[in-house]
Amino acid sequence: MSPLKVAVVGASGKVGRLLTDKLKASSSFSTPLAIVRTQDQVDYFKNEVGVNASLTDIENASVNEIADAIRGCDAVVFSAGAGGKAMERIFTVDLDGCIKVVEACEKVGIKRFVLVSALKAENRDFWCNIKGLREYYIAKRSADREVRNSELDYTILQPGSLELSRGTGLLQPIDRLEEKASVNYSINREDVASFIVQSLLHPDVTVKKTISLVNGDEPIEKFIQSL
Ligand SMILES: NC(=O)c1ccc[n+]([C@@H]2O[C@H](COP(=O)([O-])OP(=O)(O)OC[C@H]3O[C@@H](n4cnc5c(N)ncnc54)[C@H](OP(=O)(O)O)[C@@H]3O)[C@@H](O)[C@H]2O)c1
Repeated sequence: MSPLKVAVVGASGKVGRLLTDKLKASSSFSTPLAIVRTQDQVDYFKNEVGVNASLTDIENASVNEIADAIRGCDAVVFSAGAGGKAMERIFTVDLDGCIKVVEACEKVGIKRFVLVSALKAENRDFWCNIKGLREYYIAKRSADREVRNSELDYTILQPGSLELSRGTGLLQPIDRLEEKASVNYSINREDVASFIVQSLLHPDVTVKKTISLVNGDEPIEKFIQSL
């Protein structure tokens, strides 16, 4: 397989940044493209990180402009987000931003798409009473549904509560997820980034799947083969 060129939407975010480094370091991928929303971020990625970067604010760009930015890539990872408290931007970034990127992929013929969503987004009973996060989950659930209804070879990753500690390389088997309720289904961002890389390398077991990601006791390589 020739090295995959991946566009990372939200590359300047905490998961996006870790992912960009992993893609850059791997010989299975060519230099990734960071999709970011300020000129400072473009300069940082080009000069400090050493990857390509495109100034594309997904909130305000048209589908055609996003399509122009990602044209020529083999896959797109969407890890952008407005943050749970930026209520008015949840719908323009996490929901409509995601939908526009999906439409842009369809326009330029990029089939492979990985979305970083949120754990149990489809389960209203889980989130409708979490104070302050209802709108966030409505946006995440709706974005997931748009992705599932698209023509793309998608993988929807649903991490639990994101932590910044070093990756463990270990995930919780799906059938034992509830053992992790007491720790808020937490997962280190580095493990999310590692799993995105594995998803891109193993479309055979990840395409058209929605996968819950929580730290646990199973090595990522074994976890992915059990999907
Ligand atoms: N926090 C949690 O516990 C949790 C749990 C499950 C899932 N998630 C989801 O996981 C994903 C990644 O999380 P994270 O911690 O890496 O998030 P993050 O650090 O907040 O990164 C999100 C990135 O999206 C970028 N972005 C926002 N608006 C944009 C726009 N209009 N155009 C282009 N980029 C834009 C942000 O850019 P700026 O840097 O310029 O703001 C930021 O770099 C998010 O979608 C989040 O909702 C989070």
